[in-house]
Amino acid sequence: MAFWNRRTSIDVLNNIDERHRLKRTLRWPHLVALGVGAIVGTGIYTLIGIGAGRAGPAVILSFVIAGVVCACAALCYAELATLMPAAGSAYTYTYAVGGELLAWVVGWSLILEYTVVCSAVAVGWSGYAVSFLDSVGLHLPHWLTAGPHAGGIVNLPAVVILFAVAGLLMLGTRESATVNAFLVVFKVAALIVFIAIALKAFNAGHFSPFMPYGFEGHVEGIEKRGVMAAAAIIFFAFYGFDAVSTAAEETIDPKRDLVRGIVGSMIVCTSLYMLVAVAALGALPYGEFAASTDPLSYILRTLGSPLAATLIATAAVIALPTVILAFMYGQSRIFFVMARDGLLPKRLGSINARRGTPVAMIFVTAIVTSLIAGIFPLAEIAELANAGTLCAFVAVAACVLALRLREPTRPRIFTTPWPWIVGPVAIVGCVYLFLNLPSATQIRFFIWNAIGIVVYMLYGRVASVLAKRVYQDG
Ligand code: ALA
Repeated sequence: MAFWNRRTSIDVLNNIDERHRLKRTLRWPHLVALGVGAIVGTGIYTLIGIGAGRAGPAVILSFVIAGVVCACAALCYAELATLMPAAGSAYTYTYAVGGELLAWVVGWSLILEYTVVCSAVAVGWSGYAVSFLDSVGLHLPHWLTAGPHAGGIVNLPAVVILFAVAGLLMLGTRESATVNAFLVVFKVAALIVFIAIALKAFNAGHFSPFMPYGFEGHVEGIEKRGVMAAAAIIFFAFYGFDAVSTAAEETIDPKRDLVRGIVGSMIVCTSLYMLVAVAALGALPYGEFAASTDPLSYILRTLGSPLAATLIATAAVIALPTVILAFMYGQSRIFFVMARDGLLPKRLGSINARRGTPVAMIFVTAIVTSLIAGIFPLAEIAELANAGTLCAFVAVAACVLALRLREPTRPRIFTTPWPWIVGPVAIVGCVYLFLNLPSATQIRFFIWNAIGIVVYMLYGRVASVLAKRVYQDG
């Protein structure tokens, strides 16, 4: 079969040999925790400041736009995750709907997203951890806390946290999900404390002028500004619910639990974000906290609540690793499925018999994310994550629409409401956000995918399971 025509069917996907399956250990509370754990992180804790600097008080609109696009994508994810509860997320859906070649492009973009998010959050965590250690009198030398770009040698705390999270994942999925649930409670509680204190200082005057930099993203000096430029950054804060879909294969009752996990975590986070954003903007003029590296703590310190400010900072240090946990988990599952399909070396996908987890793959993921986090600057790696995610979201929404046309009568456990509005809003919204990313990021994304095509032509095209006709063409 020609490689551009290779495709498998949904029924084949749903009947994977038990010996090649991941263990089923998760229920919906684990999935909501996994989702919230992956969503609430650097975006709301740090990027809210950068977003406000780019859009002014109208960053509220940026939150709404990014939230609507993500909500539409989340509904599409819920439909496909329940239709195909296999571990590969957007990669798997595209594999069944669009064929192997398109699936490879999506999988390659997911690898970019998941790797870069882990690395970026580890670097962000390192910043908090270093200042926390400073505050208790433990000073790490600069060469151990920054990469060569900032005059150091390696960002050691970032490397340490990545290996610590990888170790936890290697212990097993159930254990990791339980630890994750505890940590999620910490960071959500801290945001609620922030909302309660900041709202007391609410001043409607801080919302005027509302849109000082206009709506369209445009370059001002060295930065892109405007509501859309901020939305393209704030988008980072919303995703993570997609990590829930990578746990589909390990979910005890995927039909019920996946919808609750994906839609539930999205509702919790969107509500929380809107309140945090309104509280932050109402508490101080946006210009005061825009440049801060710890904007939420900064606001509380300025409002005269140093204890609460410390609580927020502590929560960030304790809880940001849950974002790494969820994305590293997703990363290892995507590698696992791509290896199972023969597009990456098989050894990477082998499951440790005792732990029921792809130990080798988690280890490789830890090494790669550490290399990036230890050496490269945060800004450069973080922007790329959004590009990879936007690509995956477009693919998922397109798959929902294509399947509605191709297999309209196939029973669906969850159906996306108004699919012909929700799907196109997700696709157009993601493309629009992509266009508002810095052009350097767009170019890097295309270079990454060009490399991916070469890897596919040299390896996956030949080694693919479909090429060997083990699966039947759907
Ligand atoms: N949504 C995740 C965060 O904000 C990626 O850290």
